[in-house]
Amino acid sequence: MKRAIKSFVIPIALFCLVILFSWQWAKVLERPAVASNLKLSISISDDEPIEPIPLTIALDQGKVALGNKLFHEPQLSHDNTISCATCHDLTKGGTDQRVFSIGINNQEGPINSPTVLNSGFNFRQFWDGRARTLEEQVEGPTHAAKEMASNWDEILGKLKRSPKYVSTFKQLYTDGVTDNNIKDAIATFERSLYTPNSRFDKFLRGNTDVLTSDEKEGYRLFKDYGCIACHQGVLLGGNMFQKFGVFGNYFQDRGNITEADMGRYNVTGQEEDRHSFKVPTLRNIELTWPYFHDGSAKTLDEAVKVMIHYQLGREASQQDIDLIVHFLTSLTGELEGSSL
Ligand code: HEC
Ligand code: HEC
Repeated sequence: MKRAIKSFVIPIALFCLVILFSWQWAKVLERPAVASNLKLSISISDDEPIEPIPLTIALDQGKVALGNKLFHEPQLSHDNTISCATCHDLTKGGTDQRVFSIGINNQEGPINSPTVLNSGFNFRQFWDGRARTLEEQVEGPTHAAKEMASNWDEILGKLKRSPKYVSTFKQLYTDGVTDNNIKDAIATFERSLYTPNSRFDKFLRGNTDVLTSDEKEGYRLFKDYGCIACHQGVLLGGNMFQKFGVFGNYFQDRGNITEADMGRYNVTGQEEDRHSFKVPTLRNIELTWPYFHDGSAKTLDEAVKVMIHYQLGREASQQDIDLIVHFLTSLTGELEGSSL
């Protein structure tokens, strides 16, 4: 028996150990090569500056449905003519595609309407970030004199006259129709307005064939020029404030400076916040023209030129601009399974 151990088992065990070691060692040697190959060939890695939009988000579907109804409810405005959807049309990328929005009595507002799509991912709401949450944001348009010009007493009075609203609120909230519950339902609905599955997201998830070579080149330029310093994360925006006109004075060049142009300064009163704005999302950007808080750029081509000049202090060839625009059009996603 002892001899059998010596002559068979020990050599076999040693042999196995050698195999095991050399296999592990090969893995160590291989590692950097594998990682860089992965990055080059399929461009997915943990250090991409842009993350795909989650494919699903768990939300209370009863509240989503009620919020949807309220979002399209003109009774939230003083004269029952304007709903949230008037200025945030879900068939127009969540905007009104106007330079400035038109509120009650045909009044024009001071600033361009941003999209509500994916607004649940914004770190703050509004161009100047004055609302911390979507719930808090609802207070703004319902009360603004040039938007819905209403107030909670008036809104609650109207909704409580509807047996359907009363019973739906009662089902979902123990205290029924209240301003907080209206805000909660609308905000929950807005969180359901996420738009996954853009071609760019499919690319990030590893499907490299889904982008054209122009779009891939556009993405490379987007990173190389430095757009990514401000437009990054899930939204390619929505996670920081930045001055509009880092290089050169955009506002002086444009002229006719308004209060809305002061941006975050209107919230903080701090000099360094003058002309500072929340970096807007670039998701579904081909649908949300005209661009900028002043609606001054009609096309993506114009918007990208302004960005290259005033945010990066550079000039670019028309070819590079076209390629960046190609990339931007790959950011259009799906809402509830249908492409936007
Ligand atoms: C009259 C047009 C109008 C109406 C009605 C309106 N909005 Fe807006 N909305 C705007 C404008 C303009 C802004 C940007 C205002 C600002 O930043 O100062 C905005 C901003 C927002 C934002 C912030 C998005 C971001 O990226 O910062 C959200 C969310 C939003 N609205 C949701 C709503 C909801 C919910 C309602 C209904 C209760 C509503 N809006 C009604 C025009 C409107
Ligand atoms: C220093 C930060 C910064 C850099 C760099 C930057 N942006 Fe912007 N971008 C902003 C800010 C801030 C705004 C909002 C300006 C405003 O309307 O007040 C914006 C707005 C935009 C808009 C309009 C979005 C909308 O909904 O109106 C587009 C498109 C855009 N940027 C694309 C780009 C591209 C492409 C690049 C690179 C060539 C780039 N940006 C570089 C900060 C930046």
